[in-house]
Amino acid sequence: EKGGFASFMDKEIHDQPQAVTDTLLGRTDIAGHLVLDDLRIDESVLRSVDKIVVIACGTAAYAGHVAKYAIEHWCRIPVEVELAHEFRYRDPVVNERTLVVAISQSGETMDTLMAVRHAREQGAKVLAICNTHGSTIPRESDAVLYTHAGPEIAVASTKAFLAQITATYVLGLYLAQLRGNLFPDEITEIFDQLRAMPDKIQIVLDRSDEVRKTAQDMVDTTSVLFLGRHVGFPVALEGALKLKELAYIHAEGFAAGELKHGPIALIEEGQAAFVIVPSPRGRHSLHSKVISNIQEIRARGARTLVIAEDGDDAVAPFADVVFSVPRCPTLLAPLLTVVPLQIFACELATVRGLDVDQPRNLAKSVTVE
Ligand code: F6R
Repeated sequence: EKGGFASFMDKEIHDQPQAVTDTLLGRTDIAGHLVLDDLRIDESVLRSVDKIVVIACGTAAYAGHVAKYAIEHWCRIPVEVELAHEFRYRDPVVNERTLVVAISQSGETMDTLMAVRHAREQGAKVLAICNTHGSTIPRESDAVLYTHAGPEIAVASTKAFLAQITATYVLGLYLAQLRGNLFPDEITEIFDQLRAMPDKIQIVLDRSDEVRKTAQDMVDTTSVLFLGRHVGFPVALEGALKLKELAYIHAEGFAAGELKHGPIALIEEGQAAFVIVPSPRGRHSLHSKVISNIQEIRARGARTLVIAEDGDDAVAPFADVVFSVPRCPTLLAPLLTVVPLQIFACELATVRGLDVDQPRNLAKSVTVE
């Protein structure tokens, strides 16, 4: 049931704090160590892993892109992310020391299943991150880490995405613990920060009025761009995908650093562009780089819709609208920054009179090639 919401999608967007909470539940013992009971892959095998390859499609693949930033940072293991339908027709370099992570909400996506089989044939161990108990992909994998988002009814994925990202963080921290890449205190600290995320997601949901109003004002928009760097890049891709699927509007996500390598030619007066701004407290100088990107597109007439951290005063002079999200560690930020983009797509589709739960031409699980 929709529980008083206008659509399943709207409900599922609001279920996200719970989906993340439930996906984190029962992952630690009394001493605070991470335990992954359902992981049936031998610890010695996990210690010797020298490469991780994430295979998935669509939104699940974007969860894999986020995972790459976190797992490489925490575990110092190279992580590749590949669309399952590309992986399965390549001659990928995988072997017994490769951990393949197959991410799938439904567990029935044909392309992902075939990629799982392809990987296992070459001796790789496959770990499924899946939302559906007893589905085919976990059954055919060596191990499974279930996301506990609950059934996702709307065709477009929302709460499963946040749960997938959460599960990859748990996996990354577990590997870091097992392989000694982080001190126990560091793992505890990050896990505590992760546990604080559901309340922050709730704050983003409570602030959704301005996003909705922005979407309502853009009912006749024909194109929207999404820009991000670092973990904001997959968030931009996901924001664009949501808008295409739901509102049938041309949308494109870019790594903001790519702008001057081509896409900036698209910018003209009135072009709407969402920009996901990293925390000003983060490492590197990413924050100022993204601010420069905003200035560059604004100088060429773009209408800038900016997602930034609470208290980030540097963005205001260059933003037409700012959507603020609570402070959190940089690597965890996608759990917050994607939420306004989901709400935007849902609302824009609704005001355009479209069926947000059942977009045209799409099926909830793609069991054919
Ligand atoms: C987008 C969406 C799809 C799925 C993709 C993979 O909103 O729902 O892109 O993410 O088809 O599906 P699963 O996760 O079931 O393998």
